[in-house]
Order: sequence, then structure tokens, then C-alpha cells
Amino acid sequence: YFIGIDVGTSGTKTILTDSKGNILATATFEYPLYQPQIGWAEQNPEDWWDASVKGIRSVLEKSKVDPREVKAVGLTGQMHGLVMLDKNYNVIRPSIIWCDQRTAKECDEITEKVGKERLIEITANPALTGFTASKILWVRNNEPQNYEKVYKILLPKDYIRFKLTGEFATDVSDASGMQLLDIKNRCWSDEVLEKLGIDKDLLGKVYESPEVTGKINKAASEITGLCEGTLVVAGGGDQAAGAVGNGIVKTGVISSTIGSSGVVFAHLDEFKIDPQGRVHTFCHAVPGKWHVMGVTQGAGLSLKWFRDNFAHIEKAAFEFIDKDPYILMDQEAELANPGADGLIFLPYLMGERTPILDPYAKGIFFGITAKHTRREFIRAVMEGVVFSLKNCLDILHEMGIEVKEVRVSGGGAKSKLWKQIQADVFEMDVWTLNSKEGPAFGAAILAAVGAGEYQKVEEACDTMIQKVDSCRPNEKLFEIYRRTYKLYNSIYPRIKDLFN
Ligand code: XUL
Repeated sequence: YFIGIDVGTSGTKTILTDSKGNILATATFEYPLYQPQIGWAEQNPEDWWDASVKGIRSVLEKSKVDPREVKAVGLTGQMHGLVMLDKNYNVIRPSIIWCDQRTAKECDEITEKVGKERLIEITANPALTGFTASKILWVRNNEPQNYEKVYKILLPKDYIRFKLTGEFATDVSDASGMQLLDIKNRCWSDEVLEKLGIDKDLLGKVYESPEVTGKINKAASEITGLCEGTLVVAGGGDQAAGAVGNGIVKTGVISSTIGSSGVVFAHLDEFKIDPQGRVHTFCHAVPGKWHVMGVTQGAGLSLKWFRDNFAHIEKAAFEFIDKDPYILMDQEAELANPGADGLIFLPYLMGERTPILDPYAKGIFFGITAKHTRREFIRAVMEGVVFSLKNCLDILHEMGIEVKEVRVSGGGAKSKLWKQIQADVFEMDVWTLNSKEGPAFGAAILAAVGAGEYQKVEEACDTMIQKVDSCRPNEKLFEIYRRTYKLYNSIYPRIKDLFN
């Protein structure tokens, strides 16, 4: 048996699986996100640890699996978050996490110190507010008293590794999001570290994702119920691990994931970047391979925002009608015409990465008339999110990346309509898989490889992942969606100057 732990933004999900990919138990424990100022986002690493401990205990209990039968644990989690420990291994300040946008000034500092072209050459990305390097500089610039105390810098899932094994380590896919890694050569970049004045000793050792980084130690064994000596593998960032869980481990197969954010993800056999930096090239969790992904900041988040503010489905009603509010919204949106009768939504509620890289962009409803009702608004939100994912897909095409098959995942894959819109807008079949557990499942697959159950990640995916059904595109709708997409793309460039 194998355990996968995903230290997410809303909570930590733990799963226990057998070597064939059957999931025996899952458990999720939530925690708060703190926003001390607009654009700031912080969490407490101790909350992640607490949720991980509860998760491990819970899956062991629910599955009745003897802990001695658990061969390995795989870790994954939200990327980019900054965890700083002092020399007594205490957390110095709350973690500044991936969606925090406070570091625009530090991004300029990075670009100036490393040089724009050199930065893209080494880290495969322009300086971005989400990435860890700018967060480290922010602490150094704004909280020197905290920076002085730093002994180790870790990513969220690697803090859990430290608590489980006592080791300071990370994996290449998660480390890619720190903007301190030489992505092509899969090691810390001495040049970037030196130019930014960050001591390499602060960082953990970098491993390939299925490699074993340590073993459960005595203290962790006592608190989690796992046996001392159980292997812990490197694991991966949530996107790379999620891709492993979706079998995106060879060229031609890509995934389109609608979670809070939306991601279109492709495997790369060779290192390749978008010279404009609109999509991220990172090391993959498959040893020696890379991946490229376009990220839309507000995907599921946009529909959740609409639900919470405008759907008017009374919370109390949830308990009586045995229908998820998202199913009711799906049904309502299905009554609207494709193209939402000209109502267009730009999902820039949290700024945007791909394709516009603009932290100041804002959401828009365009083309409202007196004829539009709530059903068109819901549909426009769903279509706008898919147009944004199509922007990511178009860039992959531009880069010459082969797309033969699309697999949908994340919360958005539960919606029949949202799947259909993806098929119609992408003009391709979209596939659903057996496992819906995303990154945690990918982490368990990496654990199975690390423990020697499978020789390679690809081989484990072949056995542990099955396609269950596909959704065919409706050719009759291609024309309307092409027209609407064209209009969608022409809106932002005409008004972008108004956002600042
Ligand atoms: C990836 C990204 C998110 C976070 C949180 O670049 O920012 O996927 O990892 O899930």
C-alpha cells in the first residue's frame, strides 16, 4: 500500500491506495487562508502538519491497513509557498503562499540583478510575483529581523517531509517554481543564487520525484501511526503530481484541469520554452523530462464566486434538495444558448497569468443586454473559463507541441456541461479517468515507483490509471464558439490600460 499527501490551499488531502491504483481511503482536513492585506495570502505551516497527521491517522483507521504494509509515502502540495525555519527548526513567520501578489517590486529587482534574458534562459520563466524567489527577497527587504534568523527555506510539502523524516529536501518539479533552479540542468542555479545573494546552504537537496529522500523517524511514527523506517519519496509540485495522476507522462496527451485555478499541462521530452514566457516550463515529476503549463488564475474560483454571490441558492436548501448547487447551476446554464447570446466573461478575478501575465487585470462581463438572465451569466462564466484554457492550448500549438488527446480533471470535470464546453471549444474529444483524486493520487504513484513496485513512472501510470469515458465535440457549435472566442480575445487588449 501507498500513501499520497497533498498539502493544498483549502486543505490537505491524504489517500491510501493499493499497488493497482484502487483507493482504499481518503481524508481531507481544512485550514484557513489569511489575507492580512489586499493581495496578500498566508498560511500556517503548523496547520498543514496538523492536517497531514490527522489525514494519515484517518486513512490508516478507515482502510484498516496494517501500517507495516504501507511501503512508502509520496508528498505533493501547493507550489511556490515560502517556509522559513530558524536553527531550532521553528517556523519564523507564516508562509507567504503562491497566490500572494505583494512582490512586484522584488520581481523588478530580480530582473535587474539577473537580467531578463538570462533569467528566462536559466529559470525558463520571467520574474513572477507567485514564485518563491521574490517572496524571499520581500522578507529580506521588509523584515530583516526575520531574514537574519533563516536557517532553511522549504516549500510547503517539504516542510511536511522535514517533520516526517528530519530531512531537508525537495524535488525538481516543485523546486522549478522557486525561480532558483536551473531548469535545463535540474539543479540549483549558482548564478541566480549568487546574483540574488541567497546562500545555497539555505536550500534543501534536490531529488528526482520518485527518489527516496528519507524514512519516517521515531517522533513522526509516534504521532502518525506509520512505522518507523517507512520510505518517503520526493514527490512533486501539485501540478506535476496531478499530471502523473492523470497519466500525462508522454507527449501527445495533455490535461485540462479546472480547480480553483485552471491549468493546461503538457509533457515534454525535450526542454522547450515560450520565448514570451506566457506559459511555464518546469521539470516534470518523470525523471529527466520537463513539462509546460498555462495557468489561468480564476477558473473554478470564478464559478464559486458567482455561486456565492449571485446564484441565490439558499444554503439551507442544500440540505433538503439532495443536489449539489453546482449541478443546479449546470442545469440552469444548459438552458442558455451556446455563446450565451453574446454575453462574454473574462475570468480575471485574481489577475491573470497565461496568456497576458497581468497581476492588475480584472474580471469583465461584456455585452450585457436586457434579454440576458442568470442562465446566460452562469454559462458565460463557464465559457469564459474555457476560452482562457483555450488561450493556453493555442500557445502549446504555437510552440509546436503535439496534442492528440485531452484529459479533463479537477472539480470542473464533475460538470457534464463544462466538459462538453471544453470538447466544443477545443474541438476535440475530452476524456475522464478512473481516479478523481488528482495530485494526491500522483504522489501515491510516485511512492509506488520509489518503493520499487514499478520500474518507471510511465509503467505505474499504465497499470494504475484507466480512461473511463469521453465526451465528443458537437461540430454544429464550432462556428458560434469560434466567433465568440475571437471576440473574447479582442476585449482585453483594447481596455488593458484602464486597469492600473
Ligand atoms: C502552479 C500554481 C498552483 C499552485 C496551487 O504554478 O501556482 O497550481 O501550485 O495549487
